[in-house]
Amino acid sequence: MTFSPNDTLTLISPNDQLPYNSDDMPLKLGVMASGSGSNFEAIAQAIADRQLNAKIHVLIYNNPDAKAATRAARWHIPAVLLNHRDFASREALDEAIVQALHDHDVEWVIMAGWMRIVTDVLIDAFCDRVINIHPSLLPSFKGSHAIQQAFAAGVKITGCTVHLVRLEVDSGTILMQAAVPILPNDTVETLQARIQMQEHRIFPQAIAIAARL
Ligand code: GAR
Repeated sequence: MTFSPNDTLTLISPNDQLPYNSDDMPLKLGVMASGSGSNFEAIAQAIADRQLNAKIHVLIYNNPDAKAATRAARWHIPAVLLNHRDFASREALDEAIVQALHDHDVEWVIMAGWMRIVTDVLIDAFCDRVINIHPSLLPSFKGSHAIQQAFAAGVKITGCTVHLVRLEVDSGTILMQAAVPILPNDTVETLQARIQMQEHRIFPQAIAIAARL
């Protein structure tokens, strides 16, 4: 089997074709992001396009210059800066995050490029309702620099994974994955761009899947 650059293989279970159901209450999302926020944007767009029945109540970001905050302003979504440098411990940061999420009436926590390890403070406050996206086919290439890890390992196929968050980093029930081939002329940057295209496609679907588990 040969792949062309934008081909993908999405591994889903039979009941994953979820129709948009406007009779359901919209999912109340809080998104956490550290950087560019392209996944935040993809989720906001999927909601606007009525592909995902949800509302983003708040964006939490930890880097003052995160582009995600600019994107939130464009969507008129409240954004709360919680700079990890202002907190004495991971737990203290997570307590502030939980408070902000409760303040905004959030039910589902979406880690969309959140580059901090989270603690049981957050995970226990939103039991089975914290969702993460990771740029590899888990359980391969956990942790930071997953794309570089895949590149260095010489694998021919990598991808992205949306999963429920557990205390152990990048573990937890896998909701959805998309496979992306590594092409002969790829650089980390070109590969990252194709992985992100797939992230933007599967993340909104995976959120809907989580809500039906
Ligand atoms: C995404 O590619 C996501 O998979 C990755 O950060 C990027 C954020 O991009 N997350 C991790 O590596 C988590 N370990 P974005 O800010 O443009 O959505």
